[in-house]
Amino acid sequence: MVFTLEGFCSAARSELRRDSGAEGRERVARHLERLLVDLNFVRDYLGPDKRSGVETVYIDEEFGFRVMAHTNRSASNNTPHCHGPSWVIYGMAMNFVEMTEWIRRDDGSKDGYANIFVDRKYILSEGEARVYNEGVIHSLHRPLETRLVRVTGCDLSKTVRYRYDPENNAVKTLSADN
Ligand SMILES: [Fe+2]
Repeated sequence: MVFTLEGFCSAARSELRRDSGAEGRERVARHLERLLVDLNFVRDYLGPDKRSGVETVYIDEEFGFRVMAHTNRSASNNTPHCHGPSWVIYGMAMNFVEMTEWIRRDDGSKDGYANIFVDRKYILSEGEARVYNEGVIHSLHRPLETRLVRVTGCDLSKTVRYRYDPENNAVKTLSADN
């Protein structure tokens, strides 16, 4: 069945109106999985001719969530990070990512110091979406080119974000989405 971006956003709004916590976000992720396999949506926002980059395709006035279409034309890796006060949902529209979730062991009281270790690793497959609630540390390894949709709880470019360096037990606070 056809599921449009508008249909997804309206379903997401209804879910968040009912429950803006973890349970509501899980339901949003299930709706996102329907959008990820919609051929028209993928063609329009994540088609083969798209250049690498990110496009914000929807901003919700009521709840502040955003829908972002990410095109990565080549393989890439990113370092462990969390999105501070924002929850995030990652949904794969093409290929897969190897996702790692990390746990922080220290109490955060020492400036610039963080002791994190791998909690779990798994594949986020094409057609699959997953919720990362506030503060969940994660890193993405993309061995292939990818297309993915990210739904964020708010404008990440305006929120604080943390980037971790597990080899040196370090953490940096970043103010922009990079
Ligand atoms: Fe992230």
